[in-house]
Amino acid sequence: MTWTYLNKEFLRREEVKISPFDRGFLFGDGVYEVIPVYEEKAFLLEDHLARLGRSLNSTGIKNPQKWNDIPGIIHELVKKNAFSNQSVYIQVTRGEDSIRNHIPDPKVQPTLFITSSELKVNPYRLDPQKKGLEVKTLEDPRWNRCDIKAVTLLANIMAMKEANLEGNDGVIFCANGEITEGAASNVFAVFDNQVITTPESNQILSGITRKHVISLLNNKGIKVVETVLKLGDIYKAEEVWVTSSTQEIQPVTKIDGRELDIKKSYKDCLWYELLTSYFSLT
Ligand code: PDD
Repeated sequence: MTWTYLNKEFLRREEVKISPFDRGFLFGDGVYEVIPVYEEKAFLLEDHLARLGRSLNSTGIKNPQKWNDIPGIIHELVKKNAFSNQSVYIQVTRGEDSIRNHIPDPKVQPTLFITSSELKVNPYRLDPQKKGLEVKTLEDPRWNRCDIKAVTLLANIMAMKEANLEGNDGVIFCANGEITEGAASNVFAVFDNQVITTPESNQILSGITRKHVISLLNNKGIKVVETVLKLGDIYKAEEVWVTSSTQEIQPVTKIDGRELDIKKSYKDCLWYELLTSYFSLT
């Protein structure tokens, strides 16, 4: 049995209902957050809630009534859904409006919906020798507020679907020959032992895992250079990896059908070292 939480109560998956007049359904007028849970404990929870707060603030969606109770609700939901490792999705839409109107009624109250499901172990933890991800690069078709974690993911879905049909595991977006981010991840590359990642801007989501990985690297005395990553250069990287709350860190070994020339064994790769010390700062 799967439990969810809607507005003020826990409901079974089969019982939960949201109005089709909800602005999230009509307009994609909502934001969300994804929080990984390990051994029933939410990982980097404060950072995720702070980002949700920023997404709400940027879109002018009100904080849900139960805002202060969210950590407790997550705790209870995780217990109810019983898996040791879970991914928790918090969706907040602007709410159910009386009529369809692009301009929201100022009185509309936000909808809060929280779900969780089992978080599968990162396959590269189970088998670090497993073939790396194969990704396709695509011109970034998204709007220029990718810093907001909006539920409006149509562009990401179309890109992932296209890449997947061609046998890829994922997508890396580029704007004018420069890497922005993955369709659901941030991107890192290593050149001459230097780690590079795209700087924060309104073209990328400020990933919680990205920030965590930068802290892990700094902790090892490795400086991360946050600068433009040219598409033409990434094919020549010593290592490429992507980060996200559900993927953690996963290596990329093929981009646009071109095998990267990775000369190291996985044991000497930074992505592997980072994965083995992933929980060392918490
Ligand atoms: N996505 N960029 C995009 C576009 C993303 O969708 C995500 C995560 C990230 C990485 O952010 P974080 O490290 O905070 O998870 C970057 C999640 C996992 C999702 O939508 O399911």
